[in-house]
Amino acid sequence: MTEIYNIAIDGPAGAGKSTIARSVAEKLHFVYVDTGAMYRAMALHFLRMGITPTDEAAISQATKDVKVTISYENGEQQVILNGENVSGLIRTGEVSDMASATSVYMPVREKLVELQKELARKENVIMDGRDIGTCVLPDADLKIYLTASSRVRAKRRFAQLKDNQGEFTLEDIEKDIIERDNRDMNREHSPLKQAEDAILLDSSSLPKKMVEERILELFLERKKEG
Ligand code: DC
Repeated sequence: MTEIYNIAIDGPAGAGKSTIARSVAEKLHFVYVDTGAMYRAMALHFLRMGITPTDEAAISQATKDVKVTISYENGEQQVILNGENVSGLIRTGEVSDMASATSVYMPVREKLVELQKELARKENVIMDGRDIGTCVLPDADLKIYLTASSRVRAKRRFAQLKDNQGEFTLEDIEKDIIERDNRDMNREHSPLKQAEDAILLDSSSLPKKMVEERILELFLERKKEG
């Protein structure tokens, strides 16, 4: 049987995980799995149903009835919610907040973690999220914890929003990022934290290209060590 390799990347919102993971996946011919998109699709479903993020019973029930899967189109991950491709609808601030608020519930996590584990059993994957190294892929061949200061992350987000900058100040965005970090890091189940055996990389001052090269180097070293 050919060996399956798994790389886990965790870290707070805006640290550059997805750009870096996507690019490393391309170089290694691995499948990139963005787990945040799955929590976002669930969140969109809860929003559409008019469920409030504190209504745990309604969220548990809705989780039982919903189907989230992923597929790939031209190498890009698509997230499918009850048969509908919702990839273009999950990047709003409202969905980000709802995803962070509803990912605290165990039924939501269990459902998505199962799907994530199954994907990693079948293919070489580089998977990013909050609990990949600690919970989803505890035996990953390489674990990276990628972070950056909240100010640097807010500046990146601000630049992405350049058409809507009038509506938000850099301070608003940084405040929002800090709130989301606090919630993701302090929740009861699978909080965001660095796995003991994860390597810490800080993209505040390192260009993304260098972070990417470092990850490739680390992976190839691990692979050689066998
Ligand atoms: O990575 P992202 O910003 O797309 O993730 C959205 C939210 O989903 C994040 O605030 C917390 C949750 N999430 C999680 O709890 N576990 C993951 N593995 C990925 C995301």
